[in-house]
Amino acid sequence: METIRYSQLVMPQDANVVGTLFGGQMVSWMDISASKAVHRFLKNSKADAALTRAIDAIEFKETVHVGDWVNFEANIILTGRSSIVIKIDAYKESKNIEKKLACTARFTFVSVQKDKNGTYKKINHNQSI
Ligand SMILES: CC(C)(COP(=O)(O)OP(=O)(O)OC[C@H]1O[C@@H](n2cnc3c(N)ncnc32)[C@H](O)[C@@H]1OP(=O)(O)O)[C@@H](O)C(=O)NCCC(=O)NCCS
Repeated sequence: METIRYSQLVMPQDANVVGTLFGGQMVSWMDISASKAVHRFLKNSKADAALTRAIDAIEFKETVHVGDWVNFEANIILTGRSSIVIKIDAYKESKNIEKKLACTARFTFVSVQKDKNGTYKKINHNQSI
């Protein structure tokens, strides 16, 4: 599957107490990037959706500032029965910096289906990369 792209402009409300990008906001955007990749991956499956099961190996490598762009690249690197593992690389872009790796993480999603009680249960996706 091809690399899935997603971008965000860092606004003042995204900042932490020292005025740079809040890490929790970065993780939230990475989660959205991962869900975009998973959404494409599951298009031909019986799954209704997929839920974030684990976030591993998260690393904040570079400070990101208000006014920077963050460009996310999501790649599905592994698939199991119900699981899908996505590597996310977040690159910052500013007036003077074209592309610098700011944050990386590995997300595990689990494909789910809504049962008759309205509960989402894991389901095998039967898809491969
Ligand atoms: C997602 C959910 C339905 C999965 O159902 P479950 O019956 O608990 O299933 P498990 O998590 O044990 O296993 C599902 C898959 O995840 C994998 N998995 C479980 N824990 C994992 C971990 N810590 N890291 C990586 N993979 C993991 C299992 O190996 C399994 O993979 P496979 O089916 O490809 O073999 C359930 O755990 C859940 O609802 N969790 C909360 C999700 C949530 O609210 N997320 C935040 C908002 S999106």
